[in-house]
Amino acid sequence: MNHKIAPSLLAADFLHLEQEIEMINNSDADWLHMDIMDGVFVPNISFGFPVIDAIKPVLKKPMDVHLMVVEPQKFIHDIAQSGVYLMNVHYEACTHLHRTIYGIKQEGMKAGVTLNPHTPISLLEDIIQDVDMVLLMSVNPGFGGQPFIEHSVEKTARLKDMINRKGLHTLIEVDGGVNKETAKRLLTAGADVLVTGSYIFKAPNPQQAIKELKDL
Ligand code: DX5
Ligand code: ZN
Repeated sequence: MNHKIAPSLLAADFLHLEQEIEMINNSDADWLHMDIMDGVFVPNISFGFPVIDAIKPVLKKPMDVHLMVVEPQKFIHDIAQSGVYLMNVHYEACTHLHRTIYGIKQEGMKAGVTLNPHTPISLLEDIIQDVDMVLLMSVNPGFGGQPFIEHSVEKTARLKDMINRKGLHTLIEVDGGVNKETAKRLLTAGADVLVTGSYIFKAPNPQQAIKELKDL
């Protein structure tokens, strides 16, 4: 019951964003997960600064931003200016990940590193002590509503072991195909934060769906 739920805005109704944010504000959600895509790092384009800046004044929850862009270091300052709490960058998009992580922290944000489904956690061995969170992708990034990749449960458990072995308190967030059934198994494996898009926003009662995930 200590875990956090981060609904993914990507699955929201963009014609009625204000109502969707109100729904999040009045729910048990802990963070709002925002997926920024550039059409280069991933084969899709989502939304960017105008949407983040419009939402910020009405949102009562911290923003957890997931950058699916090449050269994410270029946007650290602007993301911080938008009032973001936690900035996730992809391991696969950062040549100088250590510098990027410290750049994010210097701007006053929490820093997360994200792994694609094929990227092994062993690559975190020399950076995990510097990040606040690891975001494991349980689908290939770029689209909501995809089926959960089963291997992610075991990957979560191995990452949890690495964190414990090093005596760290790094959070594990998992993103993609999360529903009540996969959520339960991810939490048992050691996940701390669950991102959930279509399962929440397409539910007949999104606030109830959030509560059910929170109560697991
Ligand atoms: C995918 C995004 C996810 C997505 C999850 O690239 O990173 O955050 O919105 O959506 P669901 O929960 O529908 O798989
Ligand atoms: Zn995401």
